[in-house]
Amino acid sequence: MITVIGAGKVGSAAAFDILRYKISDVVLIDTNEKQAKGEALDMMQAAPAIEFDGKIRGTSSFTEMAGSELVIVTAGLGRRPDMTRFDLLKTNAEIVRGVVREIAKYAPKSKIMMVTNPVDVMTYLAFQESGLKRCCLFGMGNILDTLRFRTYIANELGVSREDTRALVIGEHGDSMVPLVEYASVSGIPITELLGYEQIERIVHSTVTSGADVISLKGSTVYAPGTVIAIMADAVLTGRNRVMSVSTCLCGEYGFDGVSIGVPVVLGREGVEKIIELKLSSQAREKFAKSVAVVKDAIAMLKT
Ligand code: 2OP
Repeated sequence: MITVIGAGKVGSAAAFDILRYKISDVVLIDTNEKQAKGEALDMMQAAPAIEFDGKIRGTSSFTEMAGSELVIVTAGLGRRPDMTRFDLLKTNAEIVRGVVREIAKYAPKSKIMMVTNPVDVMTYLAFQESGLKRCCLFGMGNILDTLRFRTYIANELGVSREDTRALVIGEHGDSMVPLVEYASVSGIPITELLGYEQIERIVHSTVTSGADVISLKGSTVYAPGTVIAIMADAVLTGRNRVMSVSTCLCGEYGFDGVSIGVPVVLGREGVEKIIELKLSSQAREKFAKSVAVVKDAIAMLKT
């Protein structure tokens, strides 16, 4: 069973994608009980069409998460167009602390996927508050950035999005590091297919992609919802997918005391393995800057 905490737009979209891909039963929890129940009822009425025979339940009671294999935390304020992810820091930290206490009480054996922004900081906070092994706690961020990077590569070349492969590491935020040297189309490095300026444009669009949607419609919904479901599938089915997620570093890439996006093997135990890549000196420098941005925010939480 999967619990999704937060029945806002992203939490509800994620819950529906989890049902649509038939990954698991879902409990949707929100302090606004009517909202949670309403979303669940709406999804249940779609169930015959999506051929989902499992359970979807909406509730305000945290006790209902008992027995979950995975708890997905989307609760918190969303980012408004005039806000950076860090503006959200303090308010969402309080919400996340409260939610993690409830998870420790009712689903102590569950893995936790953090979605609430700023996600790298919230993942680290949840790691510290929960006392869970670090493999059991990870954040959704760079895999979403990676999908956006792939989208823009495909659009620029006019080729299938499916054939693109890419990797983004670092903060899920303005200091993210799209790794051009690891981006390819059916195995062909993008540097063979695109010029410097085209690549620069794609990288820039990737970095601003979330904010671009937010400035148009107020929030991002479908892309994060789908990505959450893909990550949930990797964990529930133990598929050992390789993707970039926010995880707490203990010396990997030369850093510790921070959670940040790096490529991992995501499977039944959560982060089964952290993959340490060889980075170009330019990428290493950018990654170090990104770590510093997240560490500064973690330090701000202590003030
Ligand atoms: C996104 O990038 C807002 O973090 C969210 O879509």
